[in-house]
Amino acid sequence: MLSLRLSSVLCCLTALVSIAQVQASGLSTNASTSTTPSAQTCLQLQLTLGPSIVQSRSFGPHYTIGVNSAWNAFNTEVNFQPACVVFATKAEHVQIAMKAIFDNNLDYAVQAGGHSAMRGWNNVEGGVLISFIFMNETSYDAEKDTITLLPGIHWGDAVSNLAPFGVAPVGGRVNDVGTGLLLGGGMSFLSPSFGYAADTFVSLDVVLVNGTLVTATAHNEYADLFRALKGGANRFGIVTKYEVQAAHTGTAEDKHWWGGVATYPNSSSEALLEAVAHYAKEANDTNAAFLIYFDLGIGDDSSISPVIEVAMFYNGSSESFNKTFAELLSIPFTTLPLGPLSYSEISNDLLDPAVTVGQTFSASVLAGMSGSFTSSNPYMETFRLFNNFTTTYASSGQISGAILAFTPVIEAQIRIGLAKGGNAISPPLGDGGFNSILLQLSFSEGVTDIPPAIEQGREYFLENVPNTPGLPLYINECDSKQRVYETYGGFEFLKTVYAKYDPTRFNVRHTQGPLGL
Ligand SMILES: Cc1cc2nc3c(=O)[nH]c(=O)nc-3n(C[C@H](O)[C@H](O)[C@H](O)COP(=O)(O)OP(=O)(O)OC[C@H]3O[C@@H](n4cnc5c(N)ncnc54)[C@H](O)[C@@H]3O)c2cc1C
Ligand SMILES: *[C@@H]1O[C@H](CO)[C@@H](O)[C@H](O)[C@H]1NC(C)=O
Ligand SMILES: *[C@@H]1O[C@H](CO)[C@@H](O)[C@H](O)[C@H]1NC(C)=O
Ligand SMILES: *[C@@H]1O[C@H](CO)[C@@H](O)[C@H](O)[C@H]1NC(C)=O
Ligand SMILES: *[C@@H]1O[C@H](CO)[C@@H](O)[C@H](O)[C@H]1NC(C)=O
Ligand SMILES: *[C@@H]1O[C@H](CO)[C@@H](O)[C@H](O)[C@H]1NC(C)=O
Ligand SMILES: *[C@@H]1O[C@H](CO)[C@@H](O)[C@H](O)[C@H]1NC(C)=O
Ligand SMILES: *[C@@H]1O[C@H](CO)[C@@H](O)[C@H](O)[C@H]1NC(C)=O
Ligand SMILES: *[C@@H]1O[C@H](CO)[C@@H](O)[C@H](O)[C@H]1NC(C)=O
Repeated sequence: MLSLRLSSVLCCLTALVSIAQVQASGLSTNASTSTTPSAQTCLQLQLTLGPSIVQSRSFGPHYTIGVNSAWNAFNTEVNFQPACVVFATKAEHVQIAMKAIFDNNLDYAVQAGGHSAMRGWNNVEGGVLISFIFMNETSYDAEKDTITLLPGIHWGDAVSNLAPFGVAPVGGRVNDVGTGLLLGGGMSFLSPSFGYAADTFVSLDVVLVNGTLVTATAHNEYADLFRALKGGANRFGIVTKYEVQAAHTGTAEDKHWWGGVATYPNSSSEALLEAVAHYAKEANDTNAAFLIYFDLGIGDDSSISPVIEVAMFYNGSSESFNKTFAELLSIPFTTLPLGPLSYSEISNDLLDPAVTVGQTFSASVLAGMSGSFTSSNPYMETFRLFNNFTTTYASSGQISGAILAFTPVIEAQIRIGLAKGGNAISPPLGDGGFNSILLQLSFSEGVTDIPPAIEQGREYFLENVPNTPGLPLYINECDSKQRVYETYGGFEFLKTVYAKYDPTRFNVRHTQGPLGL
């Protein structure tokens, strides 16, 4: 599809050329844009790194592709037009770009798989966008039993490429999502036995905000940075290479798993909410994976069509599956298409990527619960607010659907994270697990930004949705206004590490991302 001739670095960082030289080179055809600091830096970078690596609107066949690769239509060129896109193909390109951004005080953004739902987190107006779409190799080292992922790979491709070796990374559940997932923690179908995806980190190549490249591991001088990157998102540096533990999932033909994606009618909602509360509290079988989402599609006539989808997978026999998912299987369902599955099928064939329209995420979190629900119950209240929101705005013509998704984080998963040296999220131990909850809104085609009235309703939802105190919100599923770090067990630690690696607070001043450091 896309092809980009990789040009090598033309000259070195210390020999940055003058603007006069750049203009004389003929790369610039637009004198007015070259007067902004971003445009000047872009021209310098273009001469340093070459015209295939650094592209601007007036020069570069891939600029438009780079600017429009975001999955969330609110993050494409209707709202964000960077002065240039740096299509990095190696760490050195990121170093040179980052140093120039830092020295010239520019705004910037980084984009890997492009699936951030948060407005402005993976694109930038007028600044420099560092895109990883052409830096996407993956490989397996059998001797070390580790996988190397370059940041531009998408999970479906990583799983397909590695399946012949019988291994997979602990990554996303939807195939077109990318590696930014790792920096936010990462909830995978393999998480019950491996921890958050970030808990599988072995080593990380990181370009610090001033352009310095370091390799961080659990035991070297960058161990603090290493741990901060397990959930700290985009604030601590730009990762140019991930080395992660390999999960032995089998080849594409090895159908070790049993399960499928069931659908349930709306009338089963209450029983399902109870089951997901119980599951988070009590489940201790690390071979089981479970995700449930309540999906309200909105028709052109404003009608609401509810579908509840439940992904249930078990690494093992159907007998063990039946035992672990007994409560869910006892609830009246619409379809229950179960069978033997390979991990490749689970990763690539069962959950469809959502279409590219405007999107927003909002996060909440609830502890697991035992016993039967009483009438006032935080799970039911969350569901009521979700239905109320959707009913209120279904006739606006501006939203096409709403999803409420629950991912159980079981206690075993928290323990594994600790056993592997801990992460930035650091959820509390001792009271069973919890559910990370996502409210996802899809907007109608042609809606180019979050409409103020709907934003008001989303804020109402966020102010009123119950959250269990002391539990972490999930950074990859939050609203850009939510102060997620403050809910982390590692909050104080993160502030210290951030101050050490970005003493001038350049990142928080020049790129969008989680608030509160
Ligand atoms: C359809 C869909 C399904 C999802 N499923 C899951 C799921 O199963 N589990 C889960 O945990 N999450 C899931 N998510 C949330 C997902 O983890 C986040 O959207 C994540 O940020 C996506 O990473 P990305 O590389 O695709 O996106 P990007 O938008 O490219 O990156 C996300 C953020 O990370 C930053 N970033 C990316 N790469 C780097 C880097 N190398 N160095 C520094 N900063 C970087 C970006 O600047 C941006 O702020 C899903 C999201 C969607 C839209
Ligand atoms: C120069 O760039 C500006 C801003 O992008 C644009 O409005 C203008 O039309 C461009 N001029 C030429 C001659 O391309
Ligand atoms: C990397 O991206 C290119 C361009 O999109 C694609 O053709 C190629 O298959 C990808 N490689 C891997 C390993 O996914
Ligand atoms: C699946 O279970 C088998 C047998 O218990 C185990 O050897 C294997 O490591 C498990 N796979 C994963 C990916 O957890
Ligand atoms: C789904 O069920 C809930 C009660 O469990 C109810 O409040 C809601 O209106 C129902 N939704 C639809 C679209 O029928
Ligand atoms: C796991 O949970 C089941 C069901 O709740 C329980 O019977 C069993 O004792 C638990 N096992 C462990 C090791 O805690
Ligand atoms: C699992 O449960 C289903 C009914 O839900 C049943 O048909 C099947 O035989 C059970 N499998 C085993 C191995 O017990
Ligand atoms: C339903 O949502 C609307 C829009 O946010 C809000 O104004 C209203 O108070 C909500 N009603 C209830 C009962 O929660
Ligand atoms: C870059 O930042 C790191 C962390 O603050 C610091 O140790 C290093 O000396 C800086 N490098 C340069 C060249 O300023």
